[in-house]
Amino acid sequence: MSENIFEVRNVTLRFGGVVSLNDVSLEMRRGEILAVIGPNGAGKTSLFNSLTGVYQPQEGSITFTGRDGKALSIIGQKAHRVANAGVARTFQASRMFSALTAFENVKIGAESHRGIGVLGAMVRGPRTRRGEKDSDALTIELLDFVGLRAKANVISASLSYGDRRRLEIARGLATNPQVLLLDEPAAGTNPAEKIELTELIRKVRDVRGVSILLIEHDMKLVMALAERLYVLNFGSVIAQGTPDEIRANDAVIEAYLGSAATAEEK
Ligand SMILES: Nc1ncnc2c1ncn2[C@@H]1O[C@H](COP(=O)(O)OP(=O)(O)O)[C@@H](O)[C@H]1O
Ligand SMILES: [Mg+2]
Repeated sequence: MSENIFEVRNVTLRFGGVVSLNDVSLEMRRGEILAVIGPNGAGKTSLFNSLTGVYQPQEGSITFTGRDGKALSIIGQKAHRVANAGVARTFQASRMFSALTAFENVKIGAESHRGIGVLGAMVRGPRTRRGEKDSDALTIELLDFVGLRAKANVISASLSYGDRRRLEIARGLATNPQVLLLDEPAAGTNPAEKIELTELIRKVRDVRGVSILLIEHDMKLVMALAERLYVLNFGSVIAQGTPDEIRANDAVIEAYLGSAATAEEK
């Protein structure tokens, strides 16, 4: 079996005259915590959208290899097909159903994956009742896993930022993914919540065996969590390596860390 869960080869993505990804090549190993960093507009979200079938790059190839050893060529696939193959994601802007409880949000994730669909999961026809007990048990297990069991019946809109980010992780896990893509999971959280999120993300990989691909602006969190990083700038990969290698890379310091450090000092 390929040791790489993702192989990205020479991917170029354009929107009119804008080149969002420019000849990007990278690989992600099964079981690793990998981060993609870079300044605003570097192409990080475009890469996520390309990996999940949301965007269709004009050039290159993206291969996902599942645990069963089957390779799936992502470009040209519909997003739900990619999700069913084992690729889950959270979004940069929270996409919870804010009027529903934490329990309901995770359960929708579990049931939409079973092919019942969001609407089916909500109206609960006779066909959906069969799988319901399984979904309920999985939902409780996942809420427990992310530390939200006591808040299962709280309306999502009234959860703290940190709790909402954890709820999104639970919902992502409800589809039983092989890899979880996290787009700025710590956005809007306070320092204490950031530490808890770091621990939770590591636990997702260590305990559930889910590979993690992370986009994050908070350098402290990224450097603490990622085993390897790629750095994007203006749509191109300008560096890759371990946290220590990235910290010492001149091009990175110039493109990203320098400006981030300056911003932090302000
Ligand atoms: N759907 C889109 N339509 C047009 N341009 C887009 C679209 N998505 C991304 N871009 C452009 O691609 C570039 C990279 O954006 P993005 O991937 O969001 O960067 P990042 O997540 O690193 O901040 C930006 O110039 C952005 O405007
Ligand atoms: Mg982004």
